[in-house]
Amino acid sequence: MNHHIAIAIDGPAASGKSTLARELSKRFGLTMVSSGEMYRAVTWKVLELGVDPKNPSAVIAALDGMDLECGVDGRVSTITVDGERPGAELRSEAVNRSVSTVAAIPEVRHRLVDLQRSYLGFTDVVMEGRDIGTVVFPDTPFKIYIDADADVRANRRVEMGEVDAVHDRDREDSSRKTAPLKIAEGAAILDTSKHTIESGVDAAVSLLEGQGLELRKQP
Ligand code: DC
Repeated sequence: MNHHIAIAIDGPAASGKSTLARELSKRFGLTMVSSGEMYRAVTWKVLELGVDPKNPSAVIAALDGMDLECGVDGRVSTITVDGERPGAELRSEAVNRSVSTVAAIPEVRHRLVDLQRSYLGFTDVVMEGRDIGTVVFPDTPFKIYIDADADVRANRRVEMGEVDAVHDRDREDSSRKTAPLKIAEGAAILDTSKHTIESGVDAAVSLLEGQGLELRKQP
């Protein structure tokens, strides 16, 4: 039995999940795990191999040959694919365009969910994604569903200099058969549209405390 805790943060693209997870990780000394980076890393490798992301059997065959390793660097999760740690490529236009298609393949999800769960074997985590509260850690009492107005979310990506059709990704991520994005049972809902980072994190901490979370602030 392990005694590590998991905070699950789910929500659509550019809703503020990774910002919140990063801030909670810094404030309370938890490991921040971006599950989206894992889907992005597999997608990046699929594209590198010249495999068509729309061909599930070809993606599954490529996945079978992939050596995927998850780790931690400081307080942040890492993903290594066949010995390589992709960096900025994870957020390229090509990856943005194909990641939802690859993430809809049940075999891909199965393999990555196992890796995501493995973190609890050695550390407390704040993990962000689309199915963390529903599938990866359904039993954790600490769940937040984060959202923001559609135009606010689209603008955030533009401000980051990214070409990312967030609405298309959201549609795909919410309508797929396996582990679609939805509000987990017991999740507290946080709309970040009008929040600053600081006030959004404070609001999230209050919601988590309301769910019974007791965390000690890092010095
Ligand atoms: O959080 P992100 O935008 O980096 O995620 C990229 C894509 O990965 C997202 O559009 C859908 C997929 N994803 C998923 O299906 N399940 C997760 N838990 C996290 C991400």
